[in-house]
Amino acid sequence: MKEIQKSLGKPSEILSNISGYKVYYYRTAPSTNDIAKKIARQTPEDRFVIFSETQSCGRGRRGRHWISPKGGLWFSIVMRPHMDPKDVLKLTFIASLAVAKTIKALFSVTTEVKWPNDVLVNHKKVCGILTEASVRKDSVSLAVIGVGVNANIDLQAFPTHLQESATSLRHELGCEVDRMALMERILQDFLRYYSKLRKGLWKQLLNEWKGKASFFGKDIKITGSGGIVEGKALDINEDGALIIEANDGTTKEIVTGDLVVTSRS
Ligand code: BTN
Repeated sequence: MKEIQKSLGKPSEILSNISGYKVYYYRTAPSTNDIAKKIARQTPEDRFVIFSETQSCGRGRRGRHWISPKGGLWFSIVMRPHMDPKDVLKLTFIASLAVAKTIKALFSVTTEVKWPNDVLVNHKKVCGILTEASVRKDSVSLAVIGVGVNANIDLQAFPTHLQESATSLRHELGCEVDRMALMERILQDFLRYYSKLRKGLWKQLLNEWKGKASFFGKDIKITGSGGIVEGKALDINEDGALIIEANDGTTKEIVTGDLVVTSRS
């Protein structure tokens, strides 16, 4: 199904059509999220995927750089969901659920999700999601869900401070993974979850997500724009916020931040 594509910001080709999503293939891109937004401005197409072998300016949450060497799986899903802006976070939840479910199904390893956007194997981060949205007239006119999976990457590619907390599929499995098969299955699972979301089944999806989380009841530290909060993770509320019992005895709802489990007991 390979077909050369000459317009739309020069992808080398359209790799395939997965569940109605055209996948545009790039050898390199600054960031697939940025290319996705650029193309979305130039075309009315409402569902497509940007894949790139490498990213020179891959972006993570909270303004961080996302290391994106060859061998990783870096792609962005573009959709025009016309949903309430407060529901955008739900796209991140279903994307991480799709990745966790796919990795488990394809490679028979236990996967976990970690609030708000990570997928872990052996308690180490193997995937992060960066969802970005444009809002027009109180409705999400564009959502770009960037998925970064450390697939066939050497751990030496990560800076020293990440080598303890990050991993790759190749490192955990001891063999190369087929990135295209992985992406195809993630997309299919994501679309199935998305269609459930649109049918009003968010509670069911959130429960499934919670069933893959292992930080509840654990001592945690959250670093966010408002500083550091420590306590015990209790739950996730219906809006996707983390509920914790802080060490000062109060219950807090945290909307965003970085979660670290400080004690697994
Ligand atoms: C995070 O955990 O901080 C989110 C990382 C998201 C990385 C992906 S890779 C594909 C897409 N393009 C980007 O620039 N970022 C996302």
